[in-house]
Amino acid sequence: MAERNLSIGILSTKPATWQGECLAVGIFEDAGVQPALLGVDSGLATAVDTLRQGGWGRGRTGEFQFVPMPVTGFKAGRILLVGLGKKEKLSAEALRGIGGQLVSRCDQAGLKSVCLLLTLEALGGVNHEGVVEALAEGALLGSYRFSRFKSQIKEEDKPSLERLFLAVPRAGAKAQEARLERTRKIIDGVVLSRDLGNLPPCDLTPESLAKEAEALGKRHNVKVTIHDEKALRRQGMNGILAVGQGSAHPPRLIVLEYRKGGETPPLAVVGKAVTFDSGGISIKPSDKMDEMKFDMCGGAAVLGLFEAVAALDLPVNLIGLVPAAENMPSGTAQRPGDIIKMASGLFVEVINTDAEGRLILADALHHASSFKPGAIVDLATLTGAIVVALGTHAAGLMGTDPALLEALKKAGESSGERLWPMPLFDEYQEQIKSGVADIKNAGNREGGAITAGCFLSRFVGEGIPWAHLDIAGTAWDTVGTRGHVPKGAVGFGVRLLVRHLLNGLSA
Ligand code: BES
Ligand code: MN
Ligand code: ZN
Repeated sequence: MAERNLSIGILSTKPATWQGECLAVGIFEDAGVQPALLGVDSGLATAVDTLRQGGWGRGRTGEFQFVPMPVTGFKAGRILLVGLGKKEKLSAEALRGIGGQLVSRCDQAGLKSVCLLLTLEALGGVNHEGVVEALAEGALLGSYRFSRFKSQIKEEDKPSLERLFLAVPRAGAKAQEARLERTRKIIDGVVLSRDLGNLPPCDLTPESLAKEAEALGKRHNVKVTIHDEKALRRQGMNGILAVGQGSAHPPRLIVLEYRKGGETPPLAVVGKAVTFDSGGISIKPSDKMDEMKFDMCGGAAVLGLFEAVAALDLPVNLIGLVPAAENMPSGTAQRPGDIIKMASGLFVEVINTDAEGRLILADALHHASSFKPGAIVDLATLTGAIVVALGTHAAGLMGTDPALLEALKKAGESSGERLWPMPLFDEYQEQIKSGVADIKNAGNREGGAITAGCFLSRFVGEGIPWAHLDIAGTAWDTVGTRGHVPKGAVGFGVRLLVRHLLNGLSA
């Protein structure tokens, strides 16, 4: 185990007196050095610009160059030149990537402490608070490791960076410290969500996920109710039961309640947690089947969201619903051709046992509706079709309420977890009509993400604003090329929904 706890703090004293190894400064591709360096020390600003002009750094995004401290009077022995790209194009998301990459560069260089002067001011199109927050987020997200199953780690691969300071002007330091504390709590939620996502399916079962939720409930002011098989049967939640019936690990419905928002109707957040999706009797090909351990990332996002919201003590009402099941083929598994009476009373013909997510979500959405929520948002690794449509750079966004969809899209833009709308025109509902039951669980290949959304829409209580996020392409990363997103579970949706709640509070 070499998991790390990067400590990150605000520095509001003079950078010259900071007793650490390295100061990181920003250089633009088209605008030279970051202006705040002049305020720190004009000799330093000039020296950095000379280095830039001498070709030590060209300011391109992703460029990192260590140089010896070029001037006297500073305790730190080196400078890290950080390329910020073109001034106009610099975004919060680019800064998150830079924050993450910076951590790994410092690790590679064997540094223990670094102080960012990048955080002294607004940069490009990002305001000052945004710069501090994005770099802190990026660094914390980028320093994430999931190494509990590595019994041996080579010395050079061990994380070395222990302390990261964000230099800010003294005037705003208190407020920045408070925002940093908020960022830490949000990232704790993302980390919980990533850890759950990355656990192997032998360790993360519906029961063990329920235990994790109960532990969360004990840590925080969150009421957790676990509906076991008996309770599911009693409530007619046969969608959840049918998906789980082929597995040795019985299904659960996890319900979390956080109420700090007075009389306002709660937001209900529903997350698909298929702890392993083999496809069931409609079994998947074995290539990449291991990735179906990530089929619970929607549920993990819900737990991560509660972790963050409870730590932040947000004045909101929030209900979480996580239907959890393992989709396995066996003698007790459901069959194609089976008909299920769902909790809502609707009969569903199972055409394909691999379209299982919508079956468990259907019962959870129906149950969510009974809490009289102001809105329901679900997150699910629901279809391969959304990956075909949008790739890995945006999640699919569907639903019934334009204002809710717009608000979520906006939250996604600021968190960097982008959502892109897909239509739910009535005509698509034709594709899930069944000859023998009310509806069937799979349409044809055309518009597969949309027909899945259509299926879900049938289980949302009348008049409740609802949004569906298909996160199949964004929930885990297989390339690890973004500095703040290591390979594996991303924790997608946690920061997005925290942002959405915060936006609602300031509105
Ligand atoms: N969990 C999968 C969707 C998925 C596939 C997520 C690939 C991420 C990557 C889901 O349960 C599923 O199998 N969906 C089927 C639906 C089809 C049978 C109608 C799919 O997308 O192929
Ligand atoms: Mn499936
Ligand atoms: Zn699935």
